[in-house]
Amino acid sequence: MKQSKVTVIGAGNVGATAAQRLAEKNIANVVMLDVMGGIAAGKALDLMEARPVELHDRTIFGGDDYSLSKDSDVVLMTAGLARKPGMSRDDLLAKNAQIVSTCIEEAYKYSPNAIFIVVSNPVDAMTQLTHQILSAKGVPNNKIIGMAGVLDSSRMAFFIAEALDVSVRNIQPCVLGGHGDDMVPIARYTTVAGIPLPELLSSEKVAEIIKRTQNGGIEIVNLLQTGSAFYAPASSSVEMIDAILHDKKQILPCSCYLSGQYGVSGVFVGVPAKLGVNGIEEILELKLTAQELTELKASSESVRKNVARMQELINNAAAA
Ligand code: LAC
Repeated sequence: MKQSKVTVIGAGNVGATAAQRLAEKNIANVVMLDVMGGIAAGKALDLMEARPVELHDRTIFGGDDYSLSKDSDVVLMTAGLARKPGMSRDDLLAKNAQIVSTCIEEAYKYSPNAIFIVVSNPVDAMTQLTHQILSAKGVPNNKIIGMAGVLDSSRMAFFIAEALDVSVRNIQPCVLGGHGDDMVPIARYTTVAGIPLPELLSSEKVAEIIKRTQNGGIEIVNLLQTGSAFYAPASSSVEMIDAILHDKKQILPCSCYLSGQYGVSGVFVGVPAKLGVNGIEEILELKLTAQELTELKASSESVRKNVARMQELINNAAAA
C-alpha cells in the first residue's frame, strides 16, 4: 500500500515536533526541508534512530533540496521567524511573506496536487499569500488551509478542563475568526459533555478564559523568552493532516478562504470546516447572534488590513 507523504517546510520547533508526531503516530512518511539543510537532515536522522525504540514504520528524511518533497500529499508550511517578547504577530509580516512565497513556489513545483497547510505567522495573512501564489496556478481554495483554530480551541479546551476539573475529552470548544488578539471564542457553542459552557461557569470566569485564549500565544512567548509555542501548534497541525489523509470528514476550525459565508468574502478567516481527502470539503455556517457576527466581521477586517499591509510591503520590496 502506498504510504502517505507529508513535506514539512521548516525544521524548527514546530516543524520538527510535527515531523516527530506524524511519524511516531504512523500517520505518514515525512520529508523535512529547511534552508539549514544540515539541521533538517540531522533532526530527521535523529528521529529515524529513535525508530527502533518508538517502533513505528514511517520514514523521515531531511535536507534543503525540494526534490526530496516530490509527490507529497500534504505540504505543511512552518518556516518563518517566530515572535520574540514585545513583538506582535504582525511585526513578522514582511520577513515571513518573503520566506513563505519562496518556499511555497518551490514546494508547488514538486507537489502540484498537494494540500497546503500554512502555520507560519501571521497565519491568516500567510495563508492568503499562499492562496495568491497557488490559485494563480489553478490550485483550488479547498486545498489551501491555515492552521490556527485547532490550536486556539485546544488552548480554550484546556483552560475549561482545568477550571472545571474535568477531562479534556468532555470539552467541545468553539473559536472563530483570525488568529489574532480579536479571535472570537464563542462560549454559547462551547460545550462540556453537551452542556453549554455558560451554564457551568460564571460569566466572569468565561470572560477570563476567553481573554486567556486570545492571549494564548503571547503567554507562551513571554514564558519562553526565546521563541513561541510549538508543542500545541504541532499537535494541531498533525490533527488536521490526520483528518485529511484518513479522510475522516472531521469538523475542525481552520483558516479558510471565505466567499460569502458569514457575510465575509475574499479573505482567510477561522471557521469550522469539514476536513477530508479533498482538504476543506465543507465550510459550516453557525447561526451567530448580531454581537458574535459583529466580532467575527471585526476579526475578518483585521486579517484584511494585515493582508493589505503585507501586499504594500511586498510591492515596496519589489519596487526597491
Ligand atoms: C501561537 C503562535 C504560534 O499562537 O501564533 O502560539
